[in-house]
Amino acid sequence: MTLRALTLVPDPLLRQVAEPVADIDDTIRTLLSDMAETMYDAPGIGLAAPQVGICQRVIVMDCAPDDSPPELWKMVNPEIISRSDETSKLEEGCLSIPNYTGEVIRPTEVVVQYHDEAGTEKEMTATGLLAACVQHEIDHLDGILFTDYLSKLKRDMIWRKILKETRGR
Ligand code: NI
Repeated sequence: MTLRALTLVPDPLLRQVAEPVADIDDTIRTLLSDMAETMYDAPGIGLAAPQVGICQRVIVMDCAPDDSPPELWKMVNPEIISRSDETSKLEEGCLSIPNYTGEVIRPTEVVVQYHDEAGTEKEMTATGLLAACVQHEIDHLDGILFTDYLSKLKRDMIWRKILKETRGR
């Protein structure tokens, strides 16, 4: 396994729509392992392939509490097939937007269809933190960042700071 370099804002790659994976082969399995290692190393609870510079529909997550055994999810071509009407507000951050967080309102429960690393089609029902995380990661595959959900005031404030910080980099 290899640590991959994180793609940070304002890299335009984070705004691209990622391509579906056609073949779940060793290249994809290596990508999933590397992404998991990169996520744990950061540390973070979720990572999408565009965040390591790969525009393909691949995500990893582990939302287990620190005092529990790991619960690593590896998903290829994940798709939300149903969302609860009920919503929850959670504080989100993003490894591609270091040092900023914001409260995001999302459906409390979602059902996700995906392929695992063996290529088997699976379904997962997520609630709470895992539900917010899987929605956040799938958003990355569509070029959407959590800051897009914040009020215009908060969003503009964050982006002004980011552009100032990254100017000349
Ligand atoms: Ni993120």
